[in-house]
Amino acid sequence: MAASFALSGPKYASMIAKCKSAIGLRSWSMSSVRHLSTGEPDGPKIVTQDIPGPKSNQLKTELGNLQNPSTVQLFIDYAKSTGNYLCDVDGNVFLDVYNQISSMPLGYNHPSLIAAVRDPANMDAFVNRPALGVLPPSDFVARLNSSLMSIAPPGLKEIQTMACGSCSNENAFKAVCFWYKNKERGGSPPTEQDLRSCMVNEAPGASNLSILSFMGGFHGRTFGALATTHSKPIHKLDVPSFNWPIADFPKYRYPLEDNARENKAEDERSLAHVEDLIETFRRKRPVAGLIVEPIQAEGGDNHASDDYFRKLRKLCLDKGVAFICDEVQTGGGPTGKFWAHEHWNLEVPPDVVTFSKKMLTGGYFYRDEFRPKEGYRVFNTWLGDPSKMVLLQEVIKVVKAQGLVKGMEVTGGHLVKGLEKIEKESKGKIRNVRGRGTFAAMDFVDASARDKAVKALHKKGIHCGGSGYKTLRIRTALIFENKHADIFLDNLSQVLNEDF
Ligand SMILES: Cc1ncc(COP(=O)(O)O)c(C=O)c1O
Repeated sequence: MAASFALSGPKYASMIAKCKSAIGLRSWSMSSVRHLSTGEPDGPKIVTQDIPGPKSNQLKTELGNLQNPSTVQLFIDYAKSTGNYLCDVDGNVFLDVYNQISSMPLGYNHPSLIAAVRDPANMDAFVNRPALGVLPPSDFVARLNSSLMSIAPPGLKEIQTMACGSCSNENAFKAVCFWYKNKERGGSPPTEQDLRSCMVNEAPGASNLSILSFMGGFHGRTFGALATTHSKPIHKLDVPSFNWPIADFPKYRYPLEDNARENKAEDERSLAHVEDLIETFRRKRPVAGLIVEPIQAEGGDNHASDDYFRKLRKLCLDKGVAFICDEVQTGGGPTGKFWAHEHWNLEVPPDVVTFSKKMLTGGYFYRDEFRPKEGYRVFNTWLGDPSKMVLLQEVIKVVKAQGLVKGMEVTGGHLVKGLEKIEKESKGKIRNVRGRGTFAAMDFVDASARDKAVKALHKKGIHCGGSGYKTLRIRTALIFENKHADIFLDNLSQVLNEDF
């Protein structure tokens, strides 16, 4: 079953009624509903000679007077963007397979979200942003239960909301250090010396614990998270950092079925490295926790087997190291399960699962032993934003009602099959096609070939982006269907035939 985004039948009646009131329409035909709900054009449409067009360039120049605008690709007309299609200020319409760096669950201007924003019952959540740790709104617990807790990873019953992915990881690290030290103290309170020394960043109060991470991993750009990020030097240059252990992540050869023995050896090599680092660091900087992405995303879509992750989880249990699974990019359904780590069938769930992006709010789920004993240990002013939970509640309703996570498995299968066919015909221009759900990628010969392909695709109206050094990654919304995949595949084929 493909992920369906068409609106028909009685189950959509209440949604349609909400949409009607949202835009103030009294009489609405089904065809106008269909148009508003998807509003999607039949395909991309490019109207300017160059991408970016003149208006985007002008705005970029103006932004350049205020900040470094070098990462800005296009200025967007969000009011005109719909579903899987992004419309820029010059009137170009792109099929979006990059999806705001993997962070739009239902594409642009989904009617359910518009209705939620227009619903007077939700207005207070948008107008009043509370300090959630001290004065949460009356419906906070109910909203947590009906949004985040309704999709909590199996086995994890506690939740901490946060503002973004980096600060979710940052605070997960702290929670793990509290847990480790509490264990070490045997549950006793800290000493006077602990309390005094932590105030001047010295031992024993400022601990010498470490977080183990993987080469190629990305966990954010704040100081602690950055110490565990190892995807590109530009993120880290000049920033003081912790001397924490960094393990090799498996590097697979493709196609997987022809390289099973070599890839299994890679798994074993990486696991041995992790174990060795945990032991080596035990005396100088004991490893309190390990953080890993189910698929190293920013680092170039590096996959490892389910068996590898099961063994990694077991190793952490054996060594008394907390297992933090960073699902900031993989979470929310694109891999065909709500949480990518569900593919692994773990006997014991991860200790902490961090999220953001498609979840609209940041945060982490955790096992109850990771709850800090005292307040203010994991805390900041906003601790997230209840208005994002209003939207997330609607997202989850749509995702469940329309089976969109299952849809990702189906559409992803179609997409990856199409990519594999193109790879076979491409005479080595693309290689190492890989994917789980629509979370898919391919490598080019080098960075300049990849960048050339991204540019050529932009010119054809496909908005896509890279990861790692020579990888093109695909990050779709959950409403991406086979017909969208076909448009992408056609254009990729053309680019490889015409431009290379
Ligand atoms: C796996 C992963 N973790 C953490 C982050 C950081 O999230 P944020 O950019 O919201 O701080 C990202 C962002 O791309 C990510 O992909």
